[in-house]
Amino acid sequence: MFTLLLLSALAGVALSGRSPNADFIERVFEVPGARYSTDILIDAKLDVPGLVARYGYPIEIHEVTTADGYILTMHRIPHGKERNNEPDANKPVVFIMHGLVSSSADFLVLGPGNALGYYLAEEGYDVWLGNARGNFYSRRHLNLNPDNFLNQAFWRFSWDQIGNYDLPAFVDYILAKTVQPKLHYIGHSQGGTAFLVLNSLRPEYNEKFISFQGMAPASFFTHNNKAVFRSLAPLETVLETTAFAMGMGEVFPNMDFVEWFVRNYCLEASVFEPMCGGLSITGSSDYVNETMQPVFFGHAPAGSSIRQISHFGQNIRFDTFRRFNHNRLTNILQYGSATPPDYNLSRITVPAYIYYATMDSLVYPKDVLKLCGKLPNLVLCHRIPSETFGHLDFIWGNGVRTLLYKKILDQMRESEDKYL
Ligand SMILES: *[C@@H]1O[C@H](CO)[C@@H](O)[C@H](O)[C@H]1NC(C)=O
Ligand SMILES: *[C@@H]1O[C@H](CO)[C@@H](O)[C@H](O)[C@H]1NC(C)=O
Repeated sequence: MFTLLLLSALAGVALSGRSPNADFIERVFEVPGARYSTDILIDAKLDVPGLVARYGYPIEIHEVTTADGYILTMHRIPHGKERNNEPDANKPVVFIMHGLVSSSADFLVLGPGNALGYYLAEEGYDVWLGNARGNFYSRRHLNLNPDNFLNQAFWRFSWDQIGNYDLPAFVDYILAKTVQPKLHYIGHSQGGTAFLVLNSLRPEYNEKFISFQGMAPASFFTHNNKAVFRSLAPLETVLETTAFAMGMGEVFPNMDFVEWFVRNYCLEASVFEPMCGGLSITGSSDYVNETMQPVFFGHAPAGSSIRQISHFGQNIRFDTFRRFNHNRLTNILQYGSATPPDYNLSRITVPAYIYYATMDSLVYPKDVLKLCGKLPNLVLCHRIPSETFGHLDFIWGNGVRTLLYKKILDQMRESEDKYL
C-alpha cells in the first residue's frame, strides 16, 4: 500500500478540496438502475455520504468517541434499494473495516452493482462501514489537534490502537444501536490486522462476533521478499523519527512529506527506487477497470499515521506479529518487558474465514497460510480461484463480486446458522 500512496500522490491526487463535514453532501440526482459509475468525475469528488446518496441508497452518519478521545465516523447503509429495501430491526449486522491509508469508500467505489457495501445491503444486511483514526473522516479528537505540527500527539498511534480502541468503540456502539447480540466483521488488509489485535488483547470481544471474514489480513511478512518491503524494514525507526521531527506524523495526504520522501529517497537511495516510479498503480492486476481509476484515487489515499507504517516495518524486521516497539523504558512501562509481546493469536476464538490471492504482493499467500495455521477456530482458508488476483483487487477488482463477495456472503449465512 505504501507504493500505492506514493504513486497516487505523485500522480497529483489531492484530497484537500473535500471537507469531512456532512453539510458538504452534494445531492447530485439519483441514477436509477446504475451498476457502475455513471459519472467518473462526480464520483471522484463526492465524499462517501454524497456518493451513496447519489445512487439512491439510504446513508447514515454515526460518530463514536474512543476511550482515548478520538472522534470517529461510521457510515451506515441500513437496507437495500432494489431488494430488502425496508428498515428491519432483525437484519443481521455486518461491520466492514478498510486497510492502511484507506476509508469506508473502499467498499463503495465500485458502484452499486459491484461494491461490497451495496451488495450486502441488497442481500438483507444492515451494513456499517468504519473509518480508523487519522483518516479523512476520523481526523478529530477531544483534546488533540491533528493540524498542530509542533505537537504531534494526535498522530502517535499505530494499528495497535485501531484494534485496541477504535474497534471496540465501533462494535459497542453498533450493537447498542441495533440491539443485536453479535455482528459479522469483514476486514481488508490492515482491517484484518486490527481485528486480530482486538481479540488477542481483549478476548472478551470474541463473543460479540458471528464471524470474522478476513480479506488478505496482514499479520506475518515472513515470505514477502519484495525489495520494497525488505528495504523498508531496517529504516522503520529512521522513518518515524524523521517524520515526527518534521511535524509529519500524518502520512497522507500530507504532500510535504511526500515531497520530502521523494527528494530523499527517490533521487539518493537506490533501495527506495522501486517505490518511486515505473510501477503501474495496481501492479500486475488484470482486474482493475482503468476507466474507474479517477474514482478510486479520488477516495484513496485517505490518510493515516507514519506509525502504522513503521509498526508494519517492525513486524517485517523482527519477523513476528507483535505490539509496537518503543524504546526500552517505554516498553517496560507499557508492556512490563523490554521487548514488546507478541499478539497471542490463540485467544482469537471467533469462527475465522480467511481469503487470500495468488498475486498479492503485500500479503503473501504463504504468510496468510501461516496465520491460518495459528487461528484456533479457523473454518476456511480460501485461495481466490485466479492466478492474477492481487491485493487491491479485493476492493477495486472488476468481477470481485462473482469471484469473492458471493463466497463471503455464503459463508456469512452459513455461520449465522451455526453460530448465531
Ligand atoms: C468500466 O467502468 C466503466 C465506467 O464505470 C463502465 O462503463 C464499464 O462498463 C466498465 N468496464 C467493464 C469491462 O466492466
Ligand atoms: C495465549 O493464550 C492462550 C489462550 O488464552 C493461553 O493458554 C496462553 O498461555 C497464552 N500465551 C501466552 C504466551 O501468553
